[in-house]
Amino acid sequence: MNLTLKIWRQAGPSVIGKMETYKVSDISPDMSFLEMMDVLNDQLIRDGKDPVAFDHDCREGICGMCSMYINGQAHGPNRGTTTCQLHMRSFKDGDTIYIEPWRAAAFPVIKDLSVDRSSFDRIIQAGGYVSVNTSGNTQDANAIPVPKENADKAFDAATCIGCGACVATCTNSSAMLFVSAKVSQLALLPQGDPERELRVLRMVEQMDKEGFGNCSNTGACEVECPKGISLENIARMNREYLRASVTSE
Ligand code: SF4
Ligand code: FES
Repeated sequence: MNLTLKIWRQAGPSVIGKMETYKVSDISPDMSFLEMMDVLNDQLIRDGKDPVAFDHDCREGICGMCSMYINGQAHGPNRGTTTCQLHMRSFKDGDTIYIEPWRAAAFPVIKDLSVDRSSFDRIIQAGGYVSVNTSGNTQDANAIPVPKENADKAFDAATCIGCGACVATCTNSSAMLFVSAKVSQLALLPQGDPERELRVLRMVEQMDKEGFGNCSNTGACEVECPKGISLENIARMNREYLRASVTSE
């Protein structure tokens, strides 16, 4: 496949960026999107040019690093697919592909397609943990009964990989889907009970501090989320927040 790539290039956080055009040829339809980017970078390095900065780690759809806009869609055209799991067979020979970084004030561009998502880390640090002892004299996991329905919902919420597609897709740059997945994962389990109220209050407070917008129920986040995190989690987080506001001192 021969392709034209229009890629956002930005040398640093305070530098004005612009779209640059590149050509790549002999791309196999079986290559992943990131492997195609590797081919481009190899070409740029051989020509003595600056390679395109982009984030990646696992390349297996589990770390959430490979975040970019492809033809105006977070993680590209396929539903339930991260950029690293997207293959070039989803495009046609001769296509022009537009590649841009996440756009949100709380995710400032570091360089090219790489953005700073440490705001997510600070939200987790504010409350996304449990205090129960998980090493040493731990109880057998089966000693604490968890209703099957709650266990399933907690596991579904726990599949959030923190990629930020929900924020990038939202017209308000809201982080509600991400935060609600993390709140739900722990609120549904007995192990999450000790910090249940404080967790949701602190995480929402940190979310607001980081400059994410509010949720206006458009649902774009759920559509673009590569892990299919449900809007149900946002409703649960709102209930958790109300409950905590009323019951905590
Ligand atoms: S909710 Fe979905 S889109 Fe948002 S960070 Fe988690 S996995 Fe990514
Ligand atoms: S590189 Fe880890 S999810 Fe894509």
